[in-house]
Amino acid sequence: MSYLIRNVSIVGKPACDILIRDGVVAEVGADLSATGAEVVDGTGLIALPGLVDLHTHLRAPGRADAETVLTGSRAAALGGYTAVCAMANTAPVADTAGVVEQVLRLGQEAGLVDVQPIGAVTVGLAGEELAELGTMATSAARVSIFSDDGHCVSDPRLMRRALEYVKAFDGVIAQHAEEPRLTAGAQMHEGEVSARLGLAGWPAVAEEAIIARDALLAEHVGARLHICHVSTAGSVEIIRWAKSRGIRITAEVTPHHLILTDDLAGSYDPVYKVNPPLRTAADVAALRQALIEGVIDVVATDHAPHAVEDKECEWEYARPGMLGLQTALSVVFSECSGEGGLDWDGVAERMSRTPARIAGLTDHGRDPAPGVPANLTLVDPAGRWTVEPGELVSKSRNTPYRAMELPVRVVATFLRGVPTVLDGKLAGGHA
Ligand code: DOR
Ligand code: ZN
Repeated sequence: MSYLIRNVSIVGKPACDILIRDGVVAEVGADLSATGAEVVDGTGLIALPGLVDLHTHLRAPGRADAETVLTGSRAAALGGYTAVCAMANTAPVADTAGVVEQVLRLGQEAGLVDVQPIGAVTVGLAGEELAELGTMATSAARVSIFSDDGHCVSDPRLMRRALEYVKAFDGVIAQHAEEPRLTAGAQMHEGEVSARLGLAGWPAVAEEAIIARDALLAEHVGARLHICHVSTAGSVEIIRWAKSRGIRITAEVTPHHLILTDDLAGSYDPVYKVNPPLRTAADVAALRQALIEGVIDVVATDHAPHAVEDKECEWEYARPGMLGLQTALSVVFSECSGEGGLDWDGVAERMSRTPARIAGLTDHGRDPAPGVPANLTLVDPAGRWTVEPGELVSKSRNTPYRAMELPVRVVATFLRGVPTVLDGKLAGGHA
């Protein structure tokens, strides 16, 4: 099947046509003709390289009541993604070749986005002994990112060994930076609001201390370190410093840490409970600026679906996490574009090209050009929509953006030349 996208702007450049044939971009230019190709009108639309998420919880295996690879893949495609990295905190944990290969296969069966499994750093995420990193790396899933996300690899000796191990094959350790001795019992960001509400606080230093330590370990070892969901202004300064020293460090920020603040905890609505917690307006401002400057390299969703009984309960007992895949692009555009902010090229850089490079996903993160795999998304920059939790396709409903009106609509997504989304809906066979 071939597709001719007419009159579309590639990452903000003057409009042209894109011809897709046999899974790749065949031609880019003015007034292309192709008999038999299905024509997609791209007038007023922006073509971006398909978005890539470094941090998605698909909950498979183990929690099909919260999400499956299929439902998470649908949310990803509708959000403009063509590849997602699936976190390892599943049940069983993705700490063996068998489990990562299972996740890979489920992704292929769903067929909506490339699902790249992340492997656990330690056995059972227990933080005690290294998992079989090499076996996962050489498995069919070809794992290159390892993370105990949800937990911090807090033992510095284990962290050092993990960095040494992955250095051999240019893998990366993605750290959930949280010194557990400083966050025991924590319910929200430690600050004025937590003091007023009387909730136990999660201090910024618990994140910053681990980032500083791990940056030094990465420098010592000469290995690649990635920091998950950076949430404080202080973390930004440490990452800036580490980069200035040439340390091999990259970092991500979530959409929710770019828009929401800790005072939302005052509602006691657990939809706002997340780890790391929502921080202050000053942190949010610093994170936006860091993303715009590139000190923070990428946006990653930390899409964290939770079943109703794990979320609609008292704040204290609720699991942390919020949905992100279907709203990420809109939230980023809403908070970080405009005067002095990210333009479309910047969005492509932070949400597609750089995450693809970090994950080693060579078929992704490439602007449409002849010969490039046709992994792309078409977005309407003038579109607006209102988030209705019931209309999101995730199996869970824990979006913090209920009833919020957001800019930018994803109109179409193509995975290797096959539309997964058309006219803003899942394309034929995928609904
Ligand atoms: O809020 C979070 N939810 N943070 C994490 O680190 C884990 C995630 C989850 O798995 O639900
Ligand atoms: Zn995490």
